[in-house]
Amino acid sequence: MDKVVSLCKRRGFVFQSSEIYGGLSSTWDYGPLGVALKNNIAAFWWREMTQLHENIVGLDAAILMHPRVWEASGHVAGFVDPLVDCKQCKARFKAQDLVKTWRNKKKLEALGGGDIPEGGEGHLEELKKIRWPEALCPTCGTTGSLTEPRLFNLMLKTFLGPVEEAAATVYMRPETAQGIYVNYLNVVNTSRVKVPFGIAQIGKAFRNEITPGNFIFRTREFEQMEMQFFVKPGEDTKWLEYWRDARFNYYLSLGIKRDKLRLHRHTQEELAHYAADAYDIEYEFPFGWQELEGIHNRTDFDLKRHTEYSGKDLNFFDEETKERFTPYIVETSAGLNRTLLVTLLDAYDEDVQEGEPRTVLRLSPAIAPIKVGIFSLVKKDNLPETADRIAEDLRKICPVFTDHQGSIGRRYRRMDEIGTPWGITVDYQTLQDQTVTLRDRDSLEQIRVSVDLLGDEIRRRLAR
Ligand code: GAP
Repeated sequence: MDKVVSLCKRRGFVFQSSEIYGGLSSTWDYGPLGVALKNNIAAFWWREMTQLHENIVGLDAAILMHPRVWEASGHVAGFVDPLVDCKQCKARFKAQDLVKTWRNKKKLEALGGGDIPEGGEGHLEELKKIRWPEALCPTCGTTGSLTEPRLFNLMLKTFLGPVEEAAATVYMRPETAQGIYVNYLNVVNTSRVKVPFGIAQIGKAFRNEITPGNFIFRTREFEQMEMQFFVKPGEDTKWLEYWRDARFNYYLSLGIKRDKLRLHRHTQEELAHYAADAYDIEYEFPFGWQELEGIHNRTDFDLKRHTEYSGKDLNFFDEETKERFTPYIVETSAGLNRTLLVTLLDAYDEDVQEGEPRTVLRLSPAIAPIKVGIFSLVKKDNLPETADRIAEDLRKICPVFTDHQGSIGRRYRRMDEIGTPWGITVDYQTLQDQTVTLRDRDSLEQIRVSVDLLGDEIRRRLAR
């Protein structure tokens, strides 16, 4: 993890936000290579989830929504965590995390509290049974300084308009999903979609996470790639299984190693307030197996709640069968930043080439920020100009980078380190027979290709 974080900073993938002011904790900016990689992952997802399906359309809803949306969705009441404060050092903890730590140290029984399931509002009463005034703050070590657990809503609030009054309080959306549900009717009425169909969206979401961290793994501002699939009641289980498998295979096509991925089905205690059944696709991060994407059977919870709160009928009328019903929703919800972290961790490798240690990102060519590095063997005799002309042509096909300075081995290694799949070298032979060397990052195979055919060759390799 440390090596990937350091590579990200050194090569311009990810920078700390507001760094010249000392940074803002757990917020990150994406540099030239980072934004290219992020855009490529988003485009890969978008193609996979919209273009390749006749019955999935796109949407881009606003981040700010009517406050009633979050009452209907259950987030105002249910998107909460019981928190404990230290009155001495002002540190704030998830009550559940403290319980976990104590349980590991077998200290919990002494403080009371029985079998406390994971997270959420329902467990507040259980958590309150612990004798908190006798407990020790893990940060400052004071005994008796911890408050009883209190519920804390994870949504970020802001104020619309010039006056900070309650009437103008709105939330920054904690998930993109609700933007899709409230546009369900608009899409049905304008797009000629028929159940089963999906609506896909990529966008920012915000959560006031208590324990952000692990670099870009958990942050308060992040991006989600979500697809809501509307199905006939009774067909929800079939579609949940379909999307579970399709989404798992998607990560393989993104080039992620099979043995680093696994499925986890939610237990009853783990299920979100809207879900009847759910799977997580998990990745083995350096800090353990963690969720990368959630696939949920949200039943008719969302459309029913929005019908109730908005007064608008959100049923679907099937013209063929003349049936009217509230569709069930199967959701696929992936984190874009988290996927980016996975692609970097999974692709990171170190080896030795021609006696020199090398760091290489074995990124899939589809998402590599730069596809081709173009070099002239020496910086004279018209070789750089020839290389630049080749670069001008290839630029129309894909992002390229030219570098005519330093040893050729070093230039290859700089490209390997950022995941560039191919290198082209212009040498003296190029001036005679119009061919260049084309080098592959992973196999290290070098072949001679005619300059005329380079475009086709790169296109062919990119389409693989
Ligand atoms: N609409 C359902 C939903 O939001 P979720 O499991 O809370 O479900 C889905 O989030 C995905 O969003 C997660 O699997 C993760 O990849 C990403 N995600 C959630 N919270 C995040 C955070 N604080 N930072 C980065 N990514 C996050």
